[in-house]
Amino acid sequence: MTEYAITVDKLVKKYAKATVLENISIKFEKGKIHGIIGRNGSGKTVLLKCICGITPITQGEIMVKDKKVGVNKINTEDVGVIIESPGFIDGISGFKNLDFLYQLTHRRNKEVIEGVMRKMELDPKSRKKVGSYSLGMKQRLGIAQAIMDDPDILLLDEPTNGLDRNGVEKFHKLLLEFKAEGKTILIASHNSADIELLCDTVCELDHGHLVVNE
Ligand SMILES: Nc1ncnc2c1ncn2[C@@H]1O[C@H](COP(=O)(O)OP(=O)(O)O)[C@@H](O)[C@H]1O
Ligand SMILES: [Mg+2]
Repeated sequence: MTEYAITVDKLVKKYAKATVLENISIKFEKGKIHGIIGRNGSGKTVLLKCICGITPITQGEIMVKDKKVGVNKINTEDVGVIIESPGFIDGISGFKNLDFLYQLTHRRNKEVIEGVMRKMELDPKSRKKVGSYSLGMKQRLGIAQAIMDDPDILLLDEPTNGLDRNGVEKFHKLLLEFKAEGKTILIASHNSADIELLCDTVCELDHGHLVVNE
């Protein structure tokens, strides 16, 4: 039987009177990489925000694993997210940023932080402040943060923004490793060529409507 990591059922999202997502129903199979494409403003980011529960939905229902979004608590072991540019404290190092965030919900564990930073090719011993990181380094630190709780599901919004060709290739390899571990990945991108090769399924949003789902 097909197992779904995320089920979106008749989702409607409105901001004031503007309908941003119109009756979206889609299921994302567990253990696969799913692409969400569509031009700027089509609703990709809002859909990811609804799935992780950052923004309340207007109508419909979203299930993440066996939890109902907005009702059950979804934590960072269920879902890791990067939405828009990751926010860090500029005046301290990458390690200190992740160390601080990790300790909000866990006992301190330097090895975990060092491990995810090395995985993202960032030097955990570097004293370089995040404020002087390049865009690509910040993006990689964001990915390190998203994976530091070893979540089963990753929601990635334009994750390759700011990465160079080499960075994109490495990132794709990493996502394939996650998939091999049985994780489910959703990637939103306006750059369809970038993700179509990598994704097992691709859906397209157009002005808040689901137009392609294959
Ligand atoms: N907080 C908000 N308040 C009002 N409108 C919003 C808000 N966030 C997004 N929107 C609108 O929702 C639509 C979809 O936006 P978004 O999901 O960011 O598009 P995409 O990520 O596909 O580029 C846009 O028209 C945008 O202006
Ligand atoms: Mg977006």
